[in-house]
Amino acid sequence: MSSGPTLAIVGATGAVGTVMIDIINNRGSVPWGEIRLIASPRSAGKKITVRGEDNTVVALAPEAFDGVDIALFDVPDEVSAEWAPIAHSRGAIAVDNSGAFRMDPEVPLVVPEVNPEKVHERPKGIIANPNCTTLSMMAALGALHREFGLRELVVSSYQAASGAGQDGIDRLYAELEAVAGKQVGVRGGDVADALAAAGLSAETPFKAPLALNVVPWAGSRKDDGWTSEELKVRNESRKILGIPELKVSATCVRVPVLTTHSLAVHATFEREVSVEKAHKLFSDQPTIVLDDDHDNEVFPTPAAVVGGDPTHVGRVRQALDFPNTLDFFVCGDNLRKGAALNTYEIAETLAK
Ligand SMILES: NC(=O)c1ccc[n+]([C@@H]2O[C@H](COP(=O)([O-])OP(=O)(O)OC[C@H]3O[C@@H](n4cnc5c(N)ncnc54)[C@H](OP(=O)(O)O)[C@@H]3O)[C@@H](O)[C@H]2O)c1
Repeated sequence: MSSGPTLAIVGATGAVGTVMIDIINNRGSVPWGEIRLIASPRSAGKKITVRGEDNTVVALAPEAFDGVDIALFDVPDEVSAEWAPIAHSRGAIAVDNSGAFRMDPEVPLVVPEVNPEKVHERPKGIIANPNCTTLSMMAALGALHREFGLRELVVSSYQAASGAGQDGIDRLYAELEAVAGKQVGVRGGDVADALAAAGLSAETPFKAPLALNVVPWAGSRKDDGWTSEELKVRNESRKILGIPELKVSATCVRVPVLTTHSLAVHATFEREVSVEKAHKLFSDQPTIVLDDDHDNEVFPTPAAVVGGDPTHVGRVRQALDFPNTLDFFVCGDNLRKGAALNTYEIAETLAK
């Protein structure tokens, strides 16, 4: 084992944890000595290959954090809420992917392209990773904000099933299998009937059939007609960009895509904007790929960008009826930049 800080991955067996291990396995070099895999007692003893070696998953317990320098949390909110402070009390810095600490004023919410300096301001020993929907547009918005000064944001999301974790992935596969090759979807209720006929439970992570459908609901019910996911886009965008007064309105929609969230963004700035300047800013940002060639009908889609690290940006237009406003479309792999990759980049920033 090489020398270097000890990294723990808590939730190593889940959708995000699995991608985290894939990222570590495919990194040219990593700064870590030991890499410790932690999950629930259900997974204890399971073997997972990390950088060519069999690594045995251990059950979450206070002792699991002994000797750990940085602990990445890819577990449900309530598990992070309880265990990130325990990890810190055992000497680790916790980097949390859940929603447990994102809006805590004593916990920085970090996107390395936008506010890397915040990793050092962590009075609770915890750093939060933004939710995947907000993260998917942050590299692009951060670049535009630095140049033009962001004032207002109207966003519609097209969110993938894997945003709901392994349960979401399993459910979309099962639904697609249930409707494949059948003439369904021509009458209201057809798709739900086909899912019931295939033995699928009416209990779904998506509140409605997702196969052959779109569902204008993501997250939990909040006051005044909003969902938790829509409020996260508003609150987290303000915190990451450091614009407490930013006006934000989001509509979050689940679509039958396995992985990669897309967003249609309508952003208004203090200063005059142009498509040419926006193209230059996007091209200069190493973590953005510009897929925008109107004449040749080039634009990003989730099916093309899934599995990759960068955020893809296209359909950049100057709004016709709104001054200082750009419209554009972004696609980002919600399990990579939207979750595991950003968390891992925070850990790399700390290790430096
Ligand atoms: N999916 C996304 O696009 C996405 C994006 C950003 C952030 N996130 C957040 O990342 C976190 C993980 O999401 P996910 O999609 O990877 O979920 P997931 O697929 O359901 O995986 C959950 C992981 O947490 C572990 N776990 C659950 N309960 C536990 C307990 N009581 N003690 C110890 N380990 C426990 C599970 O271990 P076992 O396998 O042993 O049960 C598994 O490794 C969530 O907070 C989620 O909101 C997800």
